[in-house]
Amino acid sequence: MKVLVVGTGAREHAIADALKDDVELYCYMSKINPGMSKISEFKQGDEGEVEKVANYAVENDIDIAFIGPEAPLEKGIVDELEKNGIKCVGPTQSAARIETDKSFMRKLFEDYNIEGSLVYKVFEKSEDVSKFLDEFDRDVVVKPVGLTGGKGVKIVGDHLKDNEEAKLYSCEVIDNAMGGFAQVIIEERLIGEEFTIQAFCDGENLAPMPAAQDHPHAFEGDTGAITGGMGSYSDVGGLLPFLTQKDYDDAVNIMKNTLKAIAKEAEPYKGILYGQFMLTADGPKLIEYNARFGDPEAMNVLPLLKTPLVDVCKAIVDGNIDKVEFYDKASVCKYIVPDGYPETEHAGEIITVDEEAIENMGAKVFYAAVSQEDDGIHLSGSRALGIVASGDTIEEAEKIAEKACEHVKGNVYHRTDVGTSELVNKRVEHMKELLN
Ligand code: GLY
Repeated sequence: MKVLVVGTGAREHAIADALKDDVELYCYMSKINPGMSKISEFKQGDEGEVEKVANYAVENDIDIAFIGPEAPLEKGIVDELEKNGIKCVGPTQSAARIETDKSFMRKLFEDYNIEGSLVYKVFEKSEDVSKFLDEFDRDVVVKPVGLTGGKGVKIVGDHLKDNEEAKLYSCEVIDNAMGGFAQVIIEERLIGEEFTIQAFCDGENLAPMPAAQDHPHAFEGDTGAITGGMGSYSDVGGLLPFLTQKDYDDAVNIMKNTLKAIAKEAEPYKGILYGQFMLTADGPKLIEYNARFGDPEAMNVLPLLKTPLVDVCKAIVDGNIDKVEFYDKASVCKYIVPDGYPETEHAGEIITVDEEAIENMGAKVFYAAVSQEDDGIHLSGSRALGIVASGDTIEEAEKIAEKACEHVKGNVYHRTDVGTSELVNKRVEHMKELLN
């Protein structure tokens, strides 16, 4: 079977790695990913040029295309591939609105009475935002309605001082049509612990994966700018130290109900559904959906797959997904990023990665926004690579991942605290406080 992975980052490298032993692997990537290029036939090209990707798939008799990032989904890559007879792991443009149009997503919760939503409002005029915020006595989160590459969401108490700053930022979002919509969505700010559940969806049913927790802040102790994610962990049993089986089941139920609603309101959703939840004192609430794997969370779960990923892909496209099995291990992923990240002063510099030493320790390397050139691996301004380890406990996996990070040299840093007992216990204590 020929499978095409579309995308160039660590998430796509993890997808490709999980497929490589069972398929003829092809990749379509905007930059030459040092890991993916070694294990596939590949073409370098813009993943957003959906007709060109479809032509490449047709020329190479691809059976299934697996779409990694959200941007080509928004451009209708699945519609284009399907038009050309290629089956896809990824939703159509209209079903992908669950990520690409936050107002569609929130309205779905309302119209179909799905549990786990929150107080929100969509605005087109800044005066209306001001009026609303003058009367709303809680902190809020300001979100552009469309895609902004993870950089548009701003939270009062984090990036914004107070609701007055929220008003100013809302004007900016509307005036600049940030994310492609001259609208802004204002949501109540939830207090709790964030967690991620990803699920394989076949249009009607879903198979959930182990929960994971990402660390969006750039620096140790959850300080600094919000980034695409600096690392993540998952635990044995598929839960997290602060997440009970009931919390997990409730969150999966929200995802199941969402899947049914998307099929009615748009089209059946085939692919990966990523639910980002906040565990609050009132149970899990949905913060947002992504129409693809999480990055870094894909790196936690894909190496633990016991059911071959190719079989899962076939079940997704054939519409008969059943239970998907995972090894019962904990995992820790640490992202190595350029010094100063999210600033970009080290873009273009060379780093060295001793893959053999990392693999000998039992860890894995997944390359992200770097490019393989004749003289070595070049940094860009974004996250460079994920190092992932598994173990019988989070602590054991963390120690391996941390040690493996020593084998990456250059002007780079990573968060040494991701997955440490100290930080994990802080999450557990936080949840206990909220529940008391
Ligand atoms: N971990 C955040 C994301 O994948 O969007």
